[in-house]
Formats: sequence, C-alpha cells, structure tokens
Amino acid sequence: MNYLIGIDVGTSATKTVLFDEKGNVVSSVSQEYPLYQPHNGWAEQKPEDWRDAVLKTLKEVVAESGVSGEDVKGIGISGQMHGLVMLDEAGEVIRPSIIWCDQRTGAEVEDMLSIMPRERWIEITANPPLTGWTAAKILWVRKNEPENYKRCRHILLPKDYIRYILTGEFATEVSDASGMQLLDVAGRCWSEEVLEKLDIPREWLGKMYESCQVTGQLLPEIATATGLTTDTKVVGGAGDNAAAAVGTGVVKDGTAFTTIGSSGVVFAHSSQITIDPKGRVHTCCCAVPGAWHVMGVTQGAGLSLKWFKDNFCQDYVAQAEEAGVDVYDLINRDIEKIPVGSDRLVYLPYLMGERTPHLDPDCRGVFFGLSAIHTKAHLLRAVMEGVSYSLADCNDILKEMGVQVDQMMACGGGGKSPIWRQMLSDLYDCQVKTVHQSEGPALGVAILAGVGCGIYESVEKACEQLISVNKCSEPAGENVKKYYEYHQLYKRLYGNLKESYKELAAL
Ligand code: XUL
Repeated sequence: MNYLIGIDVGTSATKTVLFDEKGNVVSSVSQEYPLYQPHNGWAEQKPEDWRDAVLKTLKEVVAESGVSGEDVKGIGISGQMHGLVMLDEAGEVIRPSIIWCDQRTGAEVEDMLSIMPRERWIEITANPPLTGWTAAKILWVRKNEPENYKRCRHILLPKDYIRYILTGEFATEVSDASGMQLLDVAGRCWSEEVLEKLDIPREWLGKMYESCQVTGQLLPEIATATGLTTDTKVVGGAGDNAAAAVGTGVVKDGTAFTTIGSSGVVFAHSSQITIDPKGRVHTCCCAVPGAWHVMGVTQGAGLSLKWFKDNFCQDYVAQAEEAGVDVYDLINRDIEKIPVGSDRLVYLPYLMGERTPHLDPDCRGVFFGLSAIHTKAHLLRAVMEGVSYSLADCNDILKEMGVQVDQMMACGGGGKSPIWRQMLSDLYDCQVKTVHQSEGPALGVAILAGVGCGIYESVEKACEQLISVNKCSEPAGENVKKYYEYHQLYKRLYGNLKESYKELAAL
C-alpha cells in the first residue's frame, strides 16, 4: 500500500496527517504556536515556530502510523496564505512573518494605487491592492525597516518556507502565489509588469509550479530526522483554501464550500477566470490545473470565537478539561438554548478589520444591542451569528456575480458544529453539506501529492474516488425569515459606523 502525507500550516496550529492511498487517516498530529500582536491590527508569527511544529509532527505522525518510510511516496504542504517570509543570503529568517490578517499596510496600498490604477491591478492580479496580501507587506518592510529589506534575498509564503526546510528548494505554486499580488493570475506566472512597477527583484521569488507538480525531494537530514526517505517527493501543494477545496471535493463548476477556520471563506470553483469588477471577493488560481476560484473572506471567523473563549470562557475551558470533552462542544450545547438572533444582540466580527464586502483595515468588532438580559451564552451565540452574517455577505456577492452554486459544503473547525452549519443554511437559504473525510486542507494536499506521484490520475478523479457526502442541513423555514431580517440590520451597521471607525483609528 502507498501512503501520502498532508501538512497544513494553519494560524493556530500545524496539523500533519498520514493517509493511506484510499484516503483513510492512519495517524494525525497537531502542534500549536502563538500569534503575536505587537500593535492593534498587527499580526505576526515566527517561521521558526512553523518549522519546529512541522518537523515534530512529521516525525511523530510517521512513528505513530507504524508505516515504513519507504511507503510514504509523497508530501503535500498547505498553509495560511499571504504571509511574508523574508530570508537572507544564508537562508536565515530575517524578521517574524507578517501574516494574512495583519492590517498595518493601509499607506502601502495607497502607494500601490498611486503607481498603477486600480483597474490595472485587477486586470493583472485579479484583485485590487489589499492590505493583508504580500506585496503591500514587502513595501512596508522596505519603507519601515530598510536594514531588513537590504538583507533580503528570498521572499516566500508560509508553506513555501516549509518546502525550503524540507527540500532546500525555493519554489511556490499558483494557488498560494495568487495571494501575493505579484502574479499574472490569468497567465499563472509572475507578472513582469507588477514586479517592475514595485521594483521587486524577480530572483527573490520562488520557481512557479502547478499545485500537483513535484517540486523536490526530502533532504537527507530531514529524511533521517523524520523516519522518511530521500525518495519522498514534495509537490507544490496549495494555499489553505485551495487545499480545502480539494479535500472537500470542490473541484468542478457548481461546487462551493464555506470554511470556518481562523478566517472564514466562501469559495466557489470556476473553470473560467471570473473577476468581481468591484474587487470585493478574490479570484485566484485553484489547485486543479487550468482552473480558478472566487472567494469571499471574513477576517475574524473562528478567530472571533477563539478570542472570546480565550479571554472570557475560563469556566468552559476548566469544565471541558475536567470532563475530557472539547470546549466547543460545551459552547454548542449552551448556545442551542438561545433563540435565533440572540435576543436582539448582533456581533460585527471585524476584530482584524474586514475584507469581504468591506475592504477596511480600520473597522473593529462590535456587540450591538447589549442588554442586562444577555448572558455569556448570548454573547457566544451572537459571535457565531455575526460570523455567519459576514459569510452570508460573501455568499450574496457570489450570487450577484452569477457564480453558480449547486452544492455548498462546510468544513474547518467551525464547520464541524451542527449549529453553525444550520445558521449558514438558514442565512444562505440552501442545503449545507459535509463530507465524511474531515481533514480538509491536509487531505487536499495529500491528494495533490498522490497526483504528483502518479498514484491518482487527476485531482478530479481522486476526489471522485475518495470523497463522499455525509451530513446535510436544510434551511428551517421560520429561521430563514428571522435571520434575513437580522442580516439586513447587520449590513446597515457597518455603513453607520464607517466614519467612526476612521476616527477611532486616528485616536
Ligand atoms: C485567504 C486568507 C485566509 C488565510 C488563513 O485570503 O487570508 O483564509 O489563508 O487561513
């Protein structure tokens, strides 16, 4: 039997999973690491933490599986998108990575717009300049940390830094590179025009691959340290959303998913390149060769619930530890008793600014309508509802763009919650389904590795063989109407607060 490994370098943890070639999980290991927020709206992580987590989980996942290293044919790497990793001549990390949800680059986005019109940015990179994307971060380092910029010789994305550690290769692939704002997204190659305008040396960027192409093999010292062999191939892999798409079987037109991880994403596959002229949702290359996807992003999805739990739910955490259960199961149990709309409490999930539909680095979270009637469970439910309203905003834009969705899947940590899925179903007014195979991005990149190693014929064929639909939530009549009304109010709140957010940011 052949085996494949999928590594997902997430925001809260790295998860490494070893699968057999039928897609069954043989072993799975996770390792958490911190998120640093040196200022309001900034977000950084240490690439060395990702590296240590990958090497530890890789070693453990092989040891726990009992599988012989020679039988592990390929590895796929998935990761949080957009993070900036800068390496010097010797391949050493220069500064912490400025990650996807960081919002410090408002001025650099203005600079980008002053050197090239918004329409041209959208034409080439399929997206308007965005604060969270890599290009603006490179400009920020050049302006604010010239010494660091002077030392830079390589620019990598988080998962591509891991590829460098595992294989010694400086490489990337089209799905994740789409989120750097340096790619010609229609042509699936670096844009000479953008690089020239931004004055970023082409040789700093990795070699470009499609997601299922082999990019290298394990270095001897890595093979020895992890129990694998130097024959183990590492394929391009994918940004976490493009990887989750493969892991949930969203690889053909008409299919879409909503993921609730740290971020929340509504993602639809598209065999043709489809761009929102208003720039509210992103268009990127997807992991299926020659295809694209459109996605709307909520910055603070699972991040909002984790923030609330970490800061205000020590009681739940202690109770969960004592009972040996998942803390989110206890939260789900309690919020089920709270009515739709949380007794007139609305949460805006803008803890890290927002992307879809409001490109605004300055907006922040709000509980609107707090009353003395409200309990902690009300606030928890409101957080989950607020995230769902924001995801419904993303879904509405896809509808407005005419992106056809016949099948909506749910995945990510939040997608495991039946109540959260029900909220999505009610707000989208459509069925929301899950798949039996719940590993999402890790399975997605393991499939890509299997295609690269010749185990599967194509990404689409592998998904047909390995992935099957599991549970389905149906929109519940009365809730659909109530949530529609709450969503309309939610949508107006941003407009009402827009100017106040700017004032707050300037204080
Ligand atoms: C997508 C995005 C996030 C990150 C982190 O544009 O920023 O989904 O990939 O998961």
